[in-house]
Amino acid sequence: MKVLVLGAGAREHAITWSFSKSKSITGLYVAPGNAGTDDIAENIPDIDPCNSQMVIDICKKYGIDYVFVGPEAPLAAGVVDELQAAGIGAIGPHKAAAMLESSKAFSKNFMHKYNIPTASAIEIDSPKEFENEINARNGKIVIKKSGLAAGKGVLESDDKAKLLEFGLDILKNDKLLIEEYLVGWEVTIFTFSDGKNYIILPPCADFKKAYDDDKGPNTGGMGAICPVPSLSAQMLETIKKEIIEPTFKGMADEGLSYKGILYFGLMITAQGPKLLEYNVRFGDPEAQALIPLILSDFGDFCEAIIQGDIKSFPLKISTDTAICVVIAAGGYPGEYEKGLPVDYLPRFKEKYVVIFHASTRFDDENNVVTNGGRCFSVVGLGQDIITANKNAYVAAEEVYFKDSFYRHDIGKKFFEREI
Ligand code: AMP
Ligand code: GLY
Repeated sequence: MKVLVLGAGAREHAITWSFSKSKSITGLYVAPGNAGTDDIAENIPDIDPCNSQMVIDICKKYGIDYVFVGPEAPLAAGVVDELQAAGIGAIGPHKAAAMLESSKAFSKNFMHKYNIPTASAIEIDSPKEFENEINARNGKIVIKKSGLAAGKGVLESDDKAKLLEFGLDILKNDKLLIEEYLVGWEVTIFTFSDGKNYIILPPCADFKKAYDDDKGPNTGGMGAICPVPSLSAQMLETIKKEIIEPTFKGMADEGLSYKGILYFGLMITAQGPKLLEYNVRFGDPEAQALIPLILSDFGDFCEAIIQGDIKSFPLKISTDTAICVVIAAGGYPGEYEKGLPVDYLPRFKEKYVVIFHASTRFDDENNVVTNGGRCFSVVGLGQDIITANKNAYVAAEEVYFKDSFYRHDIGKKFFEREI
């Protein structure tokens, strides 16, 4: 099988790494890729993953059997619809199903229609109505941009001036939701579907704030852990019954089923689990923690998804824990320098540590340089969460470029809870 991975981050490096170990993959391409994917696959640079025609042209040129779409933007742009029309397989939703992520108004209506527990919300598209609502409310509330916002579309606050400024800005070109503020702890569940049946993967958690102890601004994600020890089997069963099953039933009823990943972002509250959001792809950095735990041949697994045969695939997952620590450029998520040389990348035994590149590229002398805010994902593996944490941090300390930084507490709140 020849596979093309679309995207350029650490999530896509992790997906490509998994394919690179597969016995059934005979050609592995990444568009556009990064300096890490270049090591294990053929990068096809200068490709816009949202440009369906460019993607189809590459598929024809290289004889690609199916495309694995990493990020959300190409899915929302309808790349999968175009690939299907051209007779090329894809792991990822068509445009209509991608609206479960690309329109929070659409997904909230879907959740209400299928009685899926979630925060109560109202949809607003007029500035006047928005001002009236904010002035009439007290206490903490949540405002969400309806469309894709790369992690920057949500504000939780009780400060009316801030809420008004944030919301009025969104209303210039989108609608928004005003949501009830939920108190609890967050967990993410990934499911893989072949369009008919689905399987549930071990739960993950990501760490969104820039600095230790959940301080500082929101980021694309500074770390992740998989599995999450505090999620009981009983709670997982409740999530399955109340949230995952009704979602797949609703998708089938609405013609939204697809071959690919559905991500459930959940808040575990005193009243039970509530769904915050769907994503229609792997999370980043959750994928970097989850993927190294998949023991089965990833190419065979994806082939089973493409063939609509997920039910009979014996997916094997390690019982280890993985902790992912993101190494970022100084200043991220604000202003940061690009093009910083990365002199040295340590090598470790894959059993203990895996390092994925995020924003990196080669300079004119073929040296690895940084190319964005989040530059590497260092993943520590271990039989328990404490060993995984130790392995991750021994390696994180060794990945250095000028002004690089990382959080020192990834996973800590979970083992503090455990001991
Ligand atoms: P979302 O993109 O909807 O997942 O929101 C991003 C983040 O905002 C979530 O991971 C939560 O940390 C927070 N958040 C979203 N909705 C709520 C809510 N209703 N109550 C409390 N926090 C929320
Ligand atoms: N880590 C959250 C996301 O990928 O949206």
